[in-house]
Formats: sequence, structure tokens, C-alpha cells
Amino acid sequence: MMQNTNQEKSSQISRWHNFETQDAINQATLNRILEAAKDAIASRGRFSIVLAGGSTPKSVYALLKNAQADWAHWHVYHNDDRCLPVDNSERNSLMARTTWLNHVAIPANQIHDIPAELGNIEGAKAYAQTLAGVPEFDLVLLGLGEDGHTASLFPNQAVDNSADAVPVFDAPKPPADRITVSQQRLSNTREVIFLVTGAGKQDAVNHWRNGVAIPATLIQPKNGVDVYCYGVKF
Ligand code: 6PG
Repeated sequence: MMQNTNQEKSSQISRWHNFETQDAINQATLNRILEAAKDAIASRGRFSIVLAGGSTPKSVYALLKNAQADWAHWHVYHNDDRCLPVDNSERNSLMARTTWLNHVAIPANQIHDIPAELGNIEGAKAYAQTLAGVPEFDLVLLGLGEDGHTASLFPNQAVDNSADAVPVFDAPKPPADRITVSQQRLSNTREVIFLVTGAGKQDAVNHWRNGVAIPATLIQPKNGVDVYCYGVKF
């Protein structure tokens, strides 16, 4: 595994980790999530995790399904979702539930899906209320799009930090209507792990590592971000 640290122009601190196999990145992510959970529960009695959507995290969620953890103290949020019916197979919440959350003992009232089925305006309002009063997150997982987007923060779209969760219109990745947690709220966390796999992400990674501003560089938690990669070259 290769590792180095960049201080970006954007003032994001990024630590880069390049894994040699899919299995290695999955195991490292699993281990880090379980460690972060243990530490958070030991120190503060709860662990809050914000899940990434898209397809990349699915294999990690599948490992979490069979993991041993103190599930009663986990609180689960999402960084974005797509405005589709709850049972649509493209919903990020459905993927997380069927792959992992439905199979472990996290209390139902501690799993906070984004109500994206209400539409982007109403759903964002409701999720902003859900997040109000939630302390700093413990861990935020994020993906990376080929165009450098993360969560539903897309290039050339106005950055909106007016609320913790905001509606997105005209997203270039379908569906056009989405809800995203704002970059300010996603940065209010002790730890961030980006999961980036596949050669299709190479250009976005090159831009990021060369200090070009992409949406992923908007995520600027005080402790920096860790970027776990597989299938891209440094
Ligand atoms: C979504 C996302 C999005 C995703 C990236 C990477 O709802 O689509 O949350 O930000 O994480 O587009 O997607 P893949 O993991 O499918 O490449």
C-alpha cells in the first residue's frame, strides 16, 4: 500500500492510500469502520456514520452484514439519495438496507434514510430537520464520480450550504432530482473516507492530486480526508 499526504490549494488535507486488490481495499475499509465505531462508542456512547451511495461501497456493506459490532449504538445517515420511490432499485437507501442494514441489530429509529421519495424540496427540508441537533459525525464515507462529483455535489453547480440537506436539480448523473447533505455538514465530522475504485476515476484522481478544484475537494474536515483507491494509478 502506498501512502502520502497532500495539502491542496483548497486547504483540504488528503492522505492517499492505494490498495493492490479489491479484497485489500474492502478489508481495510471494514477494519477502519469497525475501529472507528469501537472508539466512538467507548468514548461517547454512540457511533454516527454517514453512508456513501453509488455502487462502490456495496462490497464493504456486504462485509458489514456479517461483522460483529455493538450495533445498538450505531446511528446511520446517508450523504445523498435519488428522488425515486423507496422501493426503486436505484435508491441508495435500499441498497444499504438490502445489503447490510436489514441484517443487523441497529434499532430502526437509528437508521435515518433521506426521504427522497417526497421530492427534492420537501425531502431536503425533512432531512435538514433530522440532522438538526445531530452532533459532529464520527465517520463520513464518500464516493467519487468520474467528473469529480461526490455525494450529489456536481461540477459547475452552485454550492449551497444554506441548510444541512439541500435539493439538487439537473444532476448530470441520473436521476436529475436528488437530495444531498451540504459540503459544510459533510465536513463536520471526525473522519472521512473516500472509496475510489476503477480506471474510470483516473482523470478525477489526477485532477484532485494535482490541486485542481473538484467537488470532492470541498469536503474539508479539520482532521483531513483519507482517500482509499484501487484500480487507479498514482
Ligand atoms: C450517487 C452518489 C455518488 C456516487 C458516485 C460514485 O447517488 O450516485 O452518492 O456520489 O458515490 O457517483 O458512484 P459509483 O460508486 O457507482 O461509481
